[in-house]
Amino acid sequence: MEDFIRGIPKAELHVHLEGTLEPEHIFALAERNNVALAYKTPAQVIAAYDFHDLPSFLTIYYAAMSVLQTEQDFYELAYHYFQRAHEDNIVYVEPFFDPQGHTTRGIAFETIIKGIHRAQLDAEKNLGIESNLIMCFLRDMSAESAMAHLEMCLPFKDWIIGVGLDSDEKDNPPIKFTEVFARARNEGFKLTMHCDVNQTDIVDHIWQCLDDIQVDRIDHGINALEDERLCAEIAKRGLGLTVCPVSNRFVVQSLTTKEIKSMLQRGMKATINSDDPGYFRAYLTDNFLALIEEAEFSQDEIRQLNANAFETSWLSAARKKHYLEQVNNFS
Ligand code: ADE
Ligand code: ZN
Repeated sequence: MEDFIRGIPKAELHVHLEGTLEPEHIFALAERNNVALAYKTPAQVIAAYDFHDLPSFLTIYYAAMSVLQTEQDFYELAYHYFQRAHEDNIVYVEPFFDPQGHTTRGIAFETIIKGIHRAQLDAEKNLGIESNLIMCFLRDMSAESAMAHLEMCLPFKDWIIGVGLDSDEKDNPPIKFTEVFARARNEGFKLTMHCDVNQTDIVDHIWQCLDDIQVDRIDHGINALEDERLCAEIAKRGLGLTVCPVSNRFVVQSLTTKEIKSMLQRGMKATINSDDPGYFRAYLTDNFLALIEEAEFSQDEIRQLNANAFETSWLSAARKKHYLEQVNNFS
């Protein structure tokens, strides 16, 4: 089973590039850019990763971003992730990036996206990893700021496949961004939003994603299981749900294996993802291995979870078919 999990071709649809910053890399970048850190060693950094909910994680996540300053820094951030993804037999990725985490520190949008884009080209050429980028808005910032960043990205429109919504969900519902996402759809972007686990009003937030925003995918979305009608609608629309088991364990103390199985049984397209692997210390294969340690998953279920990721990706029909053949023929 472990060999099967390691070897099967994988797609990852929920990974924040800034969440792939490894402690050693934080130190190297801090030294290169003359940024003072509160820690003396990478081990001390890991020891400080004491997350128990979403805000306690986000505080550390945003603080570490200060080491990212030049185009080369963003290139290295993304390229390191692609190298690590290659070890997990990931062949396709739709990674997130958080421009507002950087523009608010005076970094130009162009610096961020050019570095990431160059890494994507090199990953495809050197590692055979295909990728399409998703730009996330920070939901604890204003809708005006989100709109300004949507406009800022338009000169680079061909380098971005979709837009998402992340950061602190409390009191920041999807409908705060209805206009921004409507404009994004008109510009040709695919739409997704975080519906993080066990947040206040989370079932309402998921309904808003369907009814008001008309998302093409849902990030996390575990709490949909509390509402039968919502589950049926998600299954009917064939919406992917990007579940992140180890991340869930940090914020809600559960790998949510029961919920993942329940989604599969209902025909909901659950997928497995790493979210912020540099912080949660688990890349994609580690997430699958954690699942089988806690619960019984058959090879067919693991295959289904991987097939769901390719099916609900934003690849062309021809590319999906190409990858799905590899997944379905893998043994
Ligand atoms: N930004 C980075 N990781 C996140 C997560 N797990 N939830 C919400 N926003 C995030
Ligand atoms: Zn996330």
